Amino acid sequence: MNAGTPTSEPVTVIGLGPMGRAIASVLLRAGHPVTVWNRTPRRAADLVAAGATLAQTPAAAVVSSDLVLLSLTDYRAMYEIFGPVAANPDPTGVLAGKTLVNLSSDTPDESRAAAGWAGQLGAGFLTGGIMVPPPAVGQPDAYAFYSGPGELFLAHEPVLRLIGRTRYLGADPGLAQLLYQAHLDVFLTALAGLLHATALVTAAGVPADEFLPDAMRTLADIPAMVGDGSELAAEIAAGEYPGDLSTALMMGATADHIARTSAASGVDLGLPNAVKSHYDRAIAAGLGGRNWTALYEVVKAQR
Ligand SMILES: NC(=O)c1ccc[n+]([C@@H]2O[C@H](COP(=O)([O-])OP(=O)(O)OC[C@H]3O[C@@H](n4cnc5c(N)ncnc54)[C@H](OP(=O)(O)O)[C@@H]3O)[C@@H](O)[C@H]2O)c1
Repeated sequence: MNAGTPTSEPVTVIGLGPMGRAIASVLLRAGHPVTVWNRTPRRAADLVAAGATLAQTPAAAVVSSDLVLLSLTDYRAMYEIFGPVAANPDPTGVLAGKTLVNLSSDTPDESRAAAGWAGQLGAGFLTGGIMVPPPAVGQPDAYAFYSGPGELFLAHEPVLRLIGRTRYLGADPGLAQLLYQAHLDVFLTALAGLLHATALVTAAGVPADEFLPDAMRTLADIPAMVGDGSELAAEIAAGEYPGDLSTALMMGATADHIARTSAASGVDLGLPNAVKSHYDRAIAAGLGGRNWTALYEVVKAQR
């Protein structure tokens, strides 16, 4: 690879959990000089063997590249690494002129605050949310949301594209985080339901391996019921929830049965009670005869 070609751009990756290691690996495979830093240095061993440079300090890692990717548990970790500007002005003194792309989970407000923090240090800031697990990074189905200054995104898109398809959402640094959290809301709630339901059957002596293959089919059947999302979106936009195949009243009765079965089984009640409360409130609001999608009216922001 010739110096000066796009793929020869040095990149720093800070945070070497499974995701940070997957990101650093695809960058190395694409021919980028990659510098890494991690609080626990031994997690860098495989990457160093594959050609990465392990920096001894966060400052040394940042000095090595104009583009710094952060893959941490949350944004607090970034501040612990670099120091919040108000209480402790940039202790590394090296962030000015750099572009930070924070690919870590947190709240949209934290992403907005971080963009301001970086700006005060003279650094550019992009928010990213990677929408696939580490083994899928760099694979054809991988994609990630980004938001922040458009020119900054365009300047670094060729590198970010190696992680997965890029979905740029606009200048607001909170937007990519919002979309990441919304997708994880769907994902985590579905996973919690899967485990709760498994606990329900195992409490009665039905082995998990008898139940889970069918449960996966139930999950896979959801798109057939909900469609590709466009019909639901149209109902929500119109505030109309027609149809009597699966009314809120019928589904609410089942939600009550699930909660009572859970109580009788000694299985945790947090999730079924939360679901039941949505139906209870929809029915109390007079929406019982509408399609189950009318629940949107009671869960949406009430302003
Ligand atoms: N794994 C996934 O399936 C997946 C999928 C999509 C997005 N993501 C997102 O990607 C990010 C990283 O995920 P991961 O799976 O790699 O997570 P992880 O295993 O929790 O790794 C987190 C990284 O953050 C570092 N860290 C945490 N607190 C720190 C602190 N106070 N100071 C310094 N370093 C700190 C850890 O350092 P140590 O090694 O020293 O502990 C580690 O390098 C998360 O925000 C996650 O939401 C993950």
